[in-house]
Amino acid sequence: MIQFKNVSKVYPSGTHALSNVNIKIEKGEFVFIVGASGAGKSTFLKLIMKEEQPTSGEIIINGVNTTKMKRRKVPYLRRTMGIVFQDFRLIDKMTVFDNVAFAMRVIGAKSRAVKKRVLYILGLVGLKDKAQSRPSELSGGEQQRVSLARALVNNPSLIIADEPTGNIDPEMSFEIIELLNEINKQGTTIIVVTHEHELVHKFHNRVIEINDGRVTSDSGATDEHVAIPIEITPENLADLPEEIAEEIADVSPQELNAEALQAIEQGEAE
Ligand SMILES: Nc1ncnc2c1ncn2[C@@H]1O[C@H](COP(=O)(O)OP(=O)(O)OP(=O)(O)O)[C@@H](O)[C@H]1O
Ligand SMILES: [Mg+2]
Repeated sequence: MIQFKNVSKVYPSGTHALSNVNIKIEKGEFVFIVGASGAGKSTFLKLIMKEEQPTSGEIIINGVNTTKMKRRKVPYLRRTMGIVFQDFRLIDKMTVFDNVAFAMRVIGAKSRAVKKRVLYILGLVGLKDKAQSRPSELSGGEQQRVSLARALVNNPSLIIADEPTGNIDPEMSFEIIELLNEINKQGTTIIVVTHEHELVHKFHNRVIEINDGRVTSDSGATDEHVAIPIEITPENLADLPEEIAEEIADVSPQELNAEALQAIEQGEAE
């Protein structure tokens, strides 16, 4: 779904942010991008979302060479993506609710659907009670979670998150990545930039390391890291934090096989 062919990026300042990157990320993968500060991780993400253009090479997303894409087509490309920016990019004139709702309103969602979905997603990231706050009234970690909620709200096929746990305590970070893992199991491709090695070790996802603008290691391309949608059973659900398990059961009953659904209804999931 995402392919970089000999991609280099030199900023106008002369900084070589990426050099000759060749990478293929398949649909349904969950990839961690690690590397030192200044290594080129955010640049890598900005090239995927076409916020920056490569100096040379080609980027292919879902079969489309975005290097040649017309500028007016870019918003449509972005709508297939949920993006968590390193600097959040929340709008302070709007409430938390409206910041998240905005992404849905842009695509013309009905107000009832918006309300239901936004409150559900805010619940998933633990911020339902902050719906009417302004971003500037929140802690850094809370703002980060609003930014994550906004990325999730339209159910994108690709989620790109730049340090989504950078301002969050370890326990919450673990839950956030676990949440992303669950979303990944429904088939969403996920790319997460992180500095936290401990977090990366806890999950067995593909890890791409970037150093000085070059890919210096890749724990495994393709097949073995592609999530095979799991059969959701009470046992699987019981492994998750209860709130997440409940929410997932709530949102996608079609994913549940009949037997598990019955068991969950009878309260056996606890
Ligand atoms: N807009 C820009 N103009 C000029 N140079 C830039 C620009 N953005 C990034 N750079 C430079 O490109 C290099 C890679 O930056 P990038 O933001 O991709 O790093 P990073 O791996 O995301 O770092 P961090 O972990 O600190 O977020 C750095 O040397 C940085 O200073
Ligand atoms: Mg960065």
